[in-house]
Amino acid sequence: DTLITLAKQMPKTELHLHIEGTFEPEQMFAIAQRNKVELTYQTVEALKAAYQFNNLQDFLDLYYQGMSVLLHEVDFYDLTMAYLEKVNDENVVHVEIFFDPQGHTERGVPFDTQIKGIYRALQDAEKKWGMTTRLIMSFLRHLSEESAFETLAAAKPYLDWIDGIGLDSSELGHPPEKFLRVFQACKDLGLKVTAHAGEEGPPEYVWQAIEQIHVDRIDHGNRALEDEKLVETIRQKNLTLTVCPLSNLKLCVVNDMTHHPIKRMLALGLNATVNSDDPAYFGGYMNDNYSALIKGTGINKAELYQLAQNGITGSWMNKEQQQNHL
Ligand code: HPA
Ligand code: ZN
Repeated sequence: DTLITLAKQMPKTELHLHIEGTFEPEQMFAIAQRNKVELTYQTVEALKAAYQFNNLQDFLDLYYQGMSVLLHEVDFYDLTMAYLEKVNDENVVHVEIFFDPQGHTERGVPFDTQIKGIYRALQDAEKKWGMTTRLIMSFLRHLSEESAFETLAAAKPYLDWIDGIGLDSSELGHPPEKFLRVFQACKDLGLKVTAHAGEEGPPEYVWQAIEQIHVDRIDHGNRALEDEKLVETIRQKNLTLTVCPLSNLKLCVVNDMTHHPIKRMLALGLNATVNSDDPAYFGGYMNDNYSALIKGTGINKAELYQLAQNGITGSWMNKEQQQNHL
């Protein structure tokens, strides 16, 4: 299919990617072995067989289990570099990646160990391939706002390396307003902010992300489509949605790729982008996400270009950098 070839060849950005979600089972077992830690699953095959999720929480349980073998700076470096090598081969030219510091500090791995490994890999990718990168520190919303404040305090010496703040993990029962004050503190530090909203959570959570957190973009946002006034607000504010097709399928946000709302989002004038979220768990990186959309939803060439362009204009590159990519 020529459209799939086109999607593979075009320069792409990734704006919604959890670095811990790129942990491939093979690498997970290799790092577990060198760190002498036990995994619940005995083989790569057994682990892969467990990757069947009915909802977000099913996935998160395995996601936190998987990342628990990351102990040393070199582990974070190797994880990040493996991802960057993969997407460099897929013509991804700019990445904005999330990391979940509390997923590691909670197990006793210091903040600086994590960020030093991740940041060094990002720097190496910039030097080696001219890729451009941003780093987004994400708060776990199932934990307290106090814990988020502690994380922000740990990050203070590294703010030059951090471009923005995100909010992820279990959405239901943990509305954005729970983190109102910590996000205000982040904004006061000049950081960009985004939040997962409307993946499983109701439109009300997307409203809160916009009106209370004052997000610069919305991660997922699928359920915003249930509320006409919300759609209008997202369009008026020119907010970007970081949509993740294969993630939506694997977490049962959509029951079939033919039902994926990406075309509807574009038709409504929303700045939808294509991203891979947790590619090691959801069955594919950037090109697989584009392929799945092309096959499932029948997006046309104009829509394909619009999605790629939205990925540039919705990124946190400065205007001049964006212009160089358009
Ligand atoms: N949603 C919420 N939390 C997450 C996700 C996601 O898709 N991926 C990693 N943490
Ligand atoms: Zn996500």
